[in-house]
Amino acid sequence: MTAQLECPRCGTSYPLDEVRYLCDCGSQLDVSHDLGALRAQITRTIFDARQRGAPTPHLCPERDSGVWRYRELILPVPAEMIVSRPEGNTPLYQHPRLSEWVGVDCLYLKHEGENPSGSFKDRGMTVGVTQARWLGARAVACASTGNTSASLAAYAALAGLPAIVFIPQGKIAAGKLAQALAYGAHTLQVTGDFDDAMRLVQHICDEMGIYLLNSLNPFRLEGQKSIIFETIHGLNWQPPDWIVLPAGNLGNTAAFGKALYELQQLGLITQMPRLAAVQATGANPFYQSYQLGFRQAVKVRAETVATAIRIGAPVSYERAVRSLRWTNGLVTQVSDAEIMDAKAMVDRAGIGCEPASAAAVAGVRKLVAEGVIRPSERVVAVLTGNLLKDPAATVSYHTGEWPEAQFANRPRAVSAHPEEVRRVIESIL
Ligand code: F0G
Repeated sequence: MTAQLECPRCGTSYPLDEVRYLCDCGSQLDVSHDLGALRAQITRTIFDARQRGAPTPHLCPERDSGVWRYRELILPVPAEMIVSRPEGNTPLYQHPRLSEWVGVDCLYLKHEGENPSGSFKDRGMTVGVTQARWLGARAVACASTGNTSASLAAYAALAGLPAIVFIPQGKIAAGKLAQALAYGAHTLQVTGDFDDAMRLVQHICDEMGIYLLNSLNPFRLEGQKSIIFETIHGLNWQPPDWIVLPAGNLGNTAAFGKALYELQQLGLITQMPRLAAVQATGANPFYQSYQLGFRQAVKVRAETVATAIRIGAPVSYERAVRSLRWTNGLVTQVSDAEIMDAKAMVDRAGIGCEPASAAAVAGVRKLVAEGVIRPSERVVAVLTGNLLKDPAATVSYHTGEWPEAQFANRPRAVSAHPEEVRRVIESIL
């Protein structure tokens, strides 16, 4: 294999097939690829050619998956080990009304909610579950605000592995809970919040020899890097000026920086986009730490309508800080009202997303208003989850539970009389 596990803090390396998430020094680990050797092998045209491969009756991961197309930069495993739906190949939308609303000429929305289980987590999970199978794991587990558990449940079902998911009781959106149950995961509803569930799952996995598939697991992040590879490939290798994403546990922030760093080292891009990580004001430990110049990690008790990012002690903190250093990135925060209005705009464009994803769009709008993003700059905002994940948040916004809602689309009650219905429709049109 041309990759190994490596500690970004002390440089110690470990074989790729050792079950470990942390270095002996306590730091999280990277999957480290031999970029020097890869530089001689990898060209843009290799990836183009895979995209055009001839159809076959069976799944061909390199051709069909937007993750495994970049497999040399992800995980060098034999193709027959791969557990894939396939995932990725998500659209890069543009919509004039949204660009105008946020205030830039060129806004792309990379819609990761259009992955098989409805969130970007599938990109990490295809790699994490493949690695679990490669290692011969007896079961897999994660703590989750909902999407990780939905995705883990789906990929574990596909691989025939038992899955155990730890979710904060009453704090995950209905669509996500439904998925975990439907795909057959053993679902533990933990009293407490996500941060409690996260501590618990780490302890249990260590004690019971269960394979942990939170983003603490370095293989998950390798898969999530493909959001960047696919986006920039989709833009003909012309990187945008900004990549804006919602930030919770900071797995994606960590993965995006690593992806961009590797693309630059390989000579596949020459200009580095800036990352902007967006938090909800009620769940903003990374923002607070940014304000302190990253001198220390901050913990908060988190509360936000965007339950996916309701996280007070993000686990990928150190690697996320590194990403911002590599990309001259920044962190901002937006209120729940700004998130829900941005979501309504994305939904009304016919695209749709869940609340956490809309934080990215609200963040772009805020950074443009502050003069940080210039209107002429090219911006990619990542929509991380599907509209259908959290129907309750959408319905409550439109039915008046959000007094400050700017774009509520209230349903109207009518009696079953054509006369009345005609009157109502005439008053609308
Ligand atoms: N958007 C959505 C829809 C998410 O589900 C998550 C995280 C994030 C953004 C934040 O990404 O953690 O990489 O900073 N969801 C995790 C979960 C925590 O358990 O599903 P992050």
